[in-house]
Amino acid sequence: MLSTIKTLAQTLAPRLIEIRRHLHAHPELSGQEYQTAAYVAGVLSSCGLRVEEAVGKTGVVGELQGRGEDNRILGIRTDMDALPIQELTSVEFASRKPGIMHACGHDVHTTLGLGTAMILSQMQESLQGNVRFIFQPAEEIAQGAGWMVRDGAMRDVSSIFGVHVFPSIPAQSVGIRYGALTAAADDLEIFIQGESGHGARPHEAKDAIWIAAQAICALQQAIARTQNPLRPIVLTIGQIAGGRAPNVIADRVRMAGTVRSLHPETHASLPAWIEGIVNDICKMYGASCEVNYRRGVPSVQNDFALTQLIEAAAREAWGSDRVQILTEPSLGAEDFSLYLESAPGTMFRLGVGYPERLNHPLHHPEFEVDESAIVTGVVTLAYAACKYWQSPHRES
Ligand code: NI
Repeated sequence: MLSTIKTLAQTLAPRLIEIRRHLHAHPELSGQEYQTAAYVAGVLSSCGLRVEEAVGKTGVVGELQGRGEDNRILGIRTDMDALPIQELTSVEFASRKPGIMHACGHDVHTTLGLGTAMILSQMQESLQGNVRFIFQPAEEIAQGAGWMVRDGAMRDVSSIFGVHVFPSIPAQSVGIRYGALTAAADDLEIFIQGESGHGARPHEAKDAIWIAAQAICALQQAIARTQNPLRPIVLTIGQIAGGRAPNVIADRVRMAGTVRSLHPETHASLPAWIEGIVNDICKMYGASCEVNYRRGVPSVQNDFALTQLIEAAAREAWGSDRVQILTEPSLGAEDFSLYLESAPGTMFRLGVGYPERLNHPLHHPEFEVDESAIVTGVVTLAYAACKYWQSPHRES
């Protein structure tokens, strides 16, 4: 079966590179993936999949019926949106849209979903279960997965696979991560209300800027001294504003930031914990506060058995030299976690780095991928899907 998949992938490789370059040249921003979605739907239809468009606004779902008796579904999710970045590469298929670029590799992801669908559709007779290809929009704004789930993309899905390109792993290798892959990312907004006064008479005022500074220091120190260091938290206040003149004590300050965490229990406790600290500081100095904590996406927690399955598929396909076990999670965020609220899943990293030259990071205007990774990605996904339906797997 593996050799069939590899042969199909090699035969399809020029077509897949053509698809990827087309997508790369025609990027679309989050929630506006109209042409991309139509293109994806066209390819899926030509492979004989049952296709549903406008799922999750601009998302596409394609379903491949297996021949087994199991009517549950394996999900394979890829994302389609680009970023508001002006491309600065010199590739001939560079973005034709000023200010929009596939700088996070979602053009490659879309190609991987399509390539896997092409391969599995040619092996339909030996595919023992169903596969649903979920092409989601708006991952960059962490909205698309929620839209897809709301529109039923996870209905009857027993497990789900995801993939993200990774420039610091060389092309033709994959990165496997057990446990937490990415962080929960939440938004924080804090208003401190003090009392204005003359800059020379602090005893007659309640200095909101000084109290805000105390609150920031208290939060950072409390992370270091009251939280389990093995369950990391990053709290970044990225915006702060207040005050009107150098000699007038500010009565009000607004701060806004992002809060990243990996452990689900820590994540659950964060809003009350932060509000408590800011409240106590304000109370101590006679000020008041308002803390708005908005949940973003949860942490991606890779399912153990499914991660083992992807690892085994990659090792068999490429040899152990091409499989890296990643020891560290990322504190970036990924809305793949929202699918994991419906079914267990796992996301792996696909190396796209050039072995012998500088690899720019994701979201960089000169980000480029080594396209030989595309075959690695589709073979790994297609073979893992076949293995999934062959091996005894957990109930969802
Ligand atoms: Ni991305």
